[in-house]
Amino acid sequence: MFEEGQYFAPVNTDADGTVVVELGETHPGFADPEYRERRNAIAGLAMEWEPGRPMPEISYTETEHGIWRLASAELAVKHRSLAAHEYLNGAERLELPADHIPQLSEVSEALEPLTGFSYLPAAGLVPLREFYGVLSDGKFHATQYIRHHSVPLYTPEPDVVHEVIGHANALASPRFAALYRAAGEAARRVHSEDALEFVSRVFWFTLEFGVIRESDGLKAYGAGILSSYGEIDEFRDMTILPLDLVTMGTIEYDITHYQDKLFEAASMDQLEDVVGEFWTSCDDDMIERLKAEATV
Ligand SMILES: [Fe+2]
Repeated sequence: MFEEGQYFAPVNTDADGTVVVELGETHPGFADPEYRERRNAIAGLAMEWEPGRPMPEISYTETEHGIWRLASAELAVKHRSLAAHEYLNGAERLELPADHIPQLSEVSEALEPLTGFSYLPAAGLVPLREFYGVLSDGKFHATQYIRHHSVPLYTPEPDVVHEVIGHANALASPRFAALYRAAGEAARRVHSEDALEFVSRVFWFTLEFGVIRESDGLKAYGAGILSSYGEIDEFRDMTILPLDLVTMGTIEYDITHYQDKLFEAASMDQLEDVVGEFWTSCDDDMIERLKAEATV
């Protein structure tokens, strides 16, 4: 089962309307009341937001900007040698700020002229059909909190570093943006929950954790790898499998640990031919046939 609930801390609303982010005991910010208060406040702004209203603006503290500066600088060094060419092209076009955490509105303003994508605020987990569906409209749901200051290069959940450095740089590439949109169209087209899960698993193993063969070695293009200081250093040592829809859509995996099985695209063309084509044309029947192939 796709247990996305473990990836994001659950967000609940108390009887009196207070928004509470339920951090797990192992979360670096679990025992820090100030951080927890901050998380609740930021999640509350996303919960209050309604379409058509301006995006929530977060007054980030100097400590929070400092975490971004550090993570951003360290990741940029790794990206030079380990990020896919097409992702680096996107980063060059987008020119994210290195000195402060950008507001989602700021990222959207830079992204929209490039590929038409813009961001929507998320308090935490967004239901799969909603999260993927709006990709077809060029919308990307993102959280706005940043990781705990005690571990500036680590986060157990997708924070603004992941959402923006990981995803926005890819969304600034027309080729990746087209793949994100196609995933959204697939999510809107399929009806069954099983088919939707298959679509989301293929997304997981490509746009979140995909790797690609380039002339000077294996590179990462998945946002989950490219936003994780630890995972970038490890991905070349993982089990690398060929890009295969049936395996990606059905293999068991644990989203709470480093991904130990990764799928390698031979090229951007192959990624578009195999995965882009799948998302552009799949329906419930096709996915059922693919799942049946896995069990024979
Ligand atoms: Fe992500």
